[in-house]
Amino acid sequence: MDFRVRIIEWLAEQTGLPQEQLAEWLEVPPQPELGDYAFPCFRLAKTMRQAPPKIAAGLAEKAPLDLDWLEKIEAVGGYLNFFVNRASFISRAVSAVLHADAPLAQSDEGQGKNVIVEYSSPNIAKPFHVGHAFTTILGHALYKIYDRLGYNAIRMNHLGDYGTQFGKLIVAYRLWGDEAALVKEPIKELLRIYVLFHDEAKDKPELEQQAREAFRKLEAGAAEEIDLWKRFKDLSLKAFNTVYERLGVSFDYFYGESYYSDKIPDVVKLLREKQILTESEGAQVVMLDEYDLPPCIILKSDGTTIYASRDLAAVLFRDQTWSFERNIYVVGMPQALHFRQVFSVLEKAGVEAAKRCVHVGFGLVKFPDRKLSTRSGHVVFLEDLLQESVDKTLEIIRKNDQLRQADMSEAEMRQVAEKIGIGAIVYTFLKNGRERDIVFSWDEMLDFDGDSAPYVQYTYARARSILRKAGHDDTAADAGLAELMLLDSDDEFALAKLIDGFPAAVSKAAYAYEPYMIVRQVTSLARAFNKYYNQTSILKTEDPALRRARLALLQAVCKTINSGFELTGIEVVERM
Ligand code: ARG
Repeated sequence: MDFRVRIIEWLAEQTGLPQEQLAEWLEVPPQPELGDYAFPCFRLAKTMRQAPPKIAAGLAEKAPLDLDWLEKIEAVGGYLNFFVNRASFISRAVSAVLHADAPLAQSDEGQGKNVIVEYSSPNIAKPFHVGHAFTTILGHALYKIYDRLGYNAIRMNHLGDYGTQFGKLIVAYRLWGDEAALVKEPIKELLRIYVLFHDEAKDKPELEQQAREAFRKLEAGAAEEIDLWKRFKDLSLKAFNTVYERLGVSFDYFYGESYYSDKIPDVVKLLREKQILTESEGAQVVMLDEYDLPPCIILKSDGTTIYASRDLAAVLFRDQTWSFERNIYVVGMPQALHFRQVFSVLEKAGVEAAKRCVHVGFGLVKFPDRKLSTRSGHVVFLEDLLQESVDKTLEIIRKNDQLRQADMSEAEMRQVAEKIGIGAIVYTFLKNGRERDIVFSWDEMLDFDGDSAPYVQYTYARARSILRKAGHDDTAADAGLAELMLLDSDDEFALAKLIDGFPAAVSKAAYAYEPYMIVRQVTSLARAFNKYYNQTSILKTEDPALRRARLALLQAVCKTINSGFELTGIEVVERM
């Protein structure tokens, strides 16, 4: 809210320093005894040529204590500690949320700027596995966050629909394909023949040669190869779409790797003009010694393109089409080297857009009880994982009538289980910094008391039920500022601070590419609410004005939780 801004404005007046700089320095102290905001005066020691404690004391004397929102300013050591007036802070925070006519944290800082978020990008004919779940969920959240900040965010799916593996599939399908199985369960059938190909190729190396030939024909536009490849692609996309629908994820463009196949000559031309394309063992490469990187292959010795060439073409195409402010790649960390090579080739070629490209990497997904590898066919299909989660959730809420309304119908239980089961998985991917590995544990994911989606969703439903019981009207925003000023307890202040900090969490999450910052904010809010709820009987509050104020606070809590979850792609449950 504006208290922070006002403190910064006041500091700017006093010091003559730019507000952005002061904003960066202003802290939120770890302990409330040290104030609600604190300014470390050693930052000013150089410009003011004084010792920090002296600066702090001097500033404290000039403090504008006639302001109704500022309780006191204390100089402690080299710090200037600001204590806001609680009632006025709480009332303004709650009122701002309830009267907001735009989604919370909405801003126009991105107005007129294009940000491409590339995510998901599964490989055609291969399973949509849990690694793809990570990019899909993380990328979708980033898209929503940038969209909320007013950017024109473009959702891009860089489908893996090209490359030598399609030669293998074409050969394998001709040898062992089962038409009926392909139509019924395309990905499973394609995986079956892909695995078979690798098994057989161990003894029959000529298969590899045939596969290379089939891919060469595909790239040269041979009709039969193209038809087969198109079928694999259409059937795979259909299968991927069911997963996307369930997760509520969609895309603006499916420009897969094949889309760039005819744009490679332009890349080659550019690299030749810049005289950075060299020949190495028959292949055309760009040397990257000065970046301490291995050479980047552009064309293989048989003239076919590779993954990296298509990515180079994609950057050029995207910048021509959208003049992007940022081009974000949400792709696992094992591909970090690949992206460094791609961006470095572009930089070496003098393509300025390279600086506006970012690789947003993430960790591995581990299942303590399973060993995974696509080649051997051991994969965890995301589809199955989502279903397992929903089934387990249903079982928990069916058995446990403490966790739901006793009279809940089977149909409603199923609806609730779908939202919570899917939410539990999404939350698991977004609850920590993205570079950390994820170890799957059902107990943790579905723990209704832990840091989990079910915990937050349950808390939300509980808060909504209080509002319903109280006959509270969401649209009326009945408590006015004066009534809201009645809120001044520690717990109420803690809630207001978390509500007030929400937009900052969204903005930080965007620029660090870390949606977990929003997930944590929302989870802390849910925890703070439970603490409050256990200590304060909101419904039994006697003073009607205070009761209205508390209900308004509750509504603001709900609105913030809902808004935060919406940005991460998790749905809330109104009643359970
Ligand atoms: N299809 C690739 C995979 O599944 C990811 C593509 C990443 N994006 C890119 N522009 N290279 O591993």
